[in-house]
Amino acid sequence: MKKYSLSFLLLIFGISISAQKSIDQKVTELLSKMTLEEKAGQLVQYSGFEYATGPQNSNSKKVLEEIKSGKVGSMLNVTGAEETKAFQKLALESRMKIPMIFGQDVIHGFRTTFPINLGQAASWDLEMIEKSERIAAIEASAYGIQWTFAPMVDIARDPRWGRVMEGSGEDTYLGTKIGLARIKGFQGKGLGNIDAIMATAKHFAAYGAAVGGRDYNSVDMSLRQLHETYLPPFKAASEAGVATFMNSFNDINGVPATANKYILRDLLKDQWKFQGFVVSDWGSIGEMIKHGYAKDNAEAGEKAILAGSDMDMESNIYMEQLPKLVKEGKVDIKFVDDAVRRILIKKFELGLFDDPYKFSNSERQKQQTNNLEHRKFGREFGAKSVVLLKNEKKLLPLSKSTKTVALIGPFGKEAVAMHGFWSVPFKDDAQRIVTQFDGIKNQLDKNSTLLYAKGCNENDDNKSMFAEAIETAKKADVVIMTLGEGHAMSGEAKSRSNLHFSGVQEELLKEIAKTGKPIVLMINAGRPLVFDWAADNIPTIVYSWWLGTEAGNSIADVIFGNVNPGGKLPMTFPRTEGQIPIYYNHYNTGRPAGKSTDRNYVSAYIDLDNDPKFPFGFGLSYTDFKYSNFNLSSDNLKGNQTLTINVNVANTGKFDGEEVVQLYIRDLFGKVVRPIKELKGFQKIFLKKGENRNVTFKLTPEDLKFYDDTLNYDWEAGEFEIMVGTNSNDLMTKKIVWEK
Ligand code: GLC
Repeated sequence: MKKYSLSFLLLIFGISISAQKSIDQKVTELLSKMTLEEKAGQLVQYSGFEYATGPQNSNSKKVLEEIKSGKVGSMLNVTGAEETKAFQKLALESRMKIPMIFGQDVIHGFRTTFPINLGQAASWDLEMIEKSERIAAIEASAYGIQWTFAPMVDIARDPRWGRVMEGSGEDTYLGTKIGLARIKGFQGKGLGNIDAIMATAKHFAAYGAAVGGRDYNSVDMSLRQLHETYLPPFKAASEAGVATFMNSFNDINGVPATANKYILRDLLKDQWKFQGFVVSDWGSIGEMIKHGYAKDNAEAGEKAILAGSDMDMESNIYMEQLPKLVKEGKVDIKFVDDAVRRILIKKFELGLFDDPYKFSNSERQKQQTNNLEHRKFGREFGAKSVVLLKNEKKLLPLSKSTKTVALIGPFGKEAVAMHGFWSVPFKDDAQRIVTQFDGIKNQLDKNSTLLYAKGCNENDDNKSMFAEAIETAKKADVVIMTLGEGHAMSGEAKSRSNLHFSGVQEELLKEIAKTGKPIVLMINAGRPLVFDWAADNIPTIVYSWWLGTEAGNSIADVIFGNVNPGGKLPMTFPRTEGQIPIYYNHYNTGRPAGKSTDRNYVSAYIDLDNDPKFPFGFGLSYTDFKYSNFNLSSDNLKGNQTLTINVNVANTGKFDGEEVVQLYIRDLFGKVVRPIKELKGFQKIFLKKGENRNVTFKLTPEDLKFYDDTLNYDWEAGEFEIMVGTNSNDLMTKKIVWEK
């Protein structure tokens, strides 16, 4: 680590303080010259016209006028150097010439799309996740974008909720680590750099806990649960310097997040000292009327600005109501000034005042339109996100000289579907995405044959293609089935009550299985699905999510063994929808079901085994990993000591491969009940066949802390179990005592 002299560091510190001070001063000067309407204008964000749903969409001429009169601070869904430049030019015609910020949902890539976020989480590869966001920022910033509405850091334990596809699953520790990696990737070396874009911690807060997994629905939970499970990724994001937050559509304990003073002002801005700004989610300010929390737009706007929502996405209430509310004395101007200040600071930090067109550079855009290096990374990242669920007969990896392979199922020749939900649509998508058929074709030897039959549609009861599919299967040596749920059946407003393969896909699978041909089942989905029959009857299953622009090559790399799959499930997979919510880090209850078959007078269903179909952290490999020599530096610790945990992992199989070694703890007794296990560490290691390695973890009392019923955050002396292993079920356990 390079050493710097104290005077040099003080000089740098002084320069950065003076630079910051000058931004604060510039903002103060700007504020002093702005009219109330111009201030309100900075709090307005409109969508590009093809997506606009607010009152302005019917008359985009009106929007253009408002931009020219300084009444629009930001736009979203406008991409492209020329497109953003055109709108920016209008903004600079205004009296104050304040540039707009252009935001976009850059959720899992931009021109190069990567696996959907839940698939990325299955890689447990923080470096690749960070790198994917770095690439996304490079591409998006070349297309005029300087703000992404990501990462979505909502913890979610309910796969009926379609938006699990854009998060990191059910675990707070994993979700926090991934959220931080994403923010680092997006913001890079800091705002002001030409390829750094503002990140957004969303959706604040607890959006993933909506009742019944129904999107936009209510959230009601103890503050203890809120702080223990759902807030940590947001708190960490704020501490890491995320530029913005976005509030969520749901009400939390009876108060809509959009006007929830407790989370927005008391926690985020006062306690966590968040310096960025909060944007409302799409129209959520206006939705408070439907919530029954505001009787009209005026009350909605008043409650939202007072609670701490700074920018109004697409409800146009701030422009319409804030000047009036201030003049009527219902809203103190200081709340408006604070919101405007927060936004203007970011515009200065981005460098937009120095050069409003810095991100609208056609030359840069051209360079990032089809970046082959990015695609190569996307192919690798896709393969790393695949989870091998079964390989009972070692059918995988397939030989590239397999004589005849049949690809059967509705997704085999799909292109745009491979991007999954929340990808930025481009006109040339269908031409530049690698389909599963093409990916597999690329791998097979030239004298092999690849057959294809769609077999059925993704989501209807049409069986007319079954016969052709069966005939195709009979001609093949191996059948690769590509089934699951349609790519647009997960994502926003895509809650499902039934998580089985959609349409008649499962019936098709059963018909193909009757041919007796060896089957590789590839499941495409944006969430954990329920596929009990397949899981019990098909010996070879890979979970391929939606893998992005290079999808076909990624999945073929896994199927033919160029890549040995190492993904691990970031969410628990239920046996049926009736088990939901089901998650690994649950409390023990007073009547825990010992075995999964326990039924009587324990916390279990009388009609179903208690354990999930596949547990959190589960994923197989083409090789075998053996854990041994699990030992602790002590089984009796006191105070602020460090516990060192060692375990040896050996690759005893025939393939080189990656393994995610997982560390869990259990606090056996507490002033509140504690989860039966909690992820507290993981290390992804690569071992050549025959190689072994000692893996070390460290724990301190900081890792043992939790929120008690008075919201006190601390650790307690007592007995703990320390567990290491390959998933949340298959663990080796040792007991320790840790005194205060
Ligand atoms: C949507 C989503 C949010 C997204 C925003 C802009 O409704 O809830 O995640 O960033 O609107 O598209």
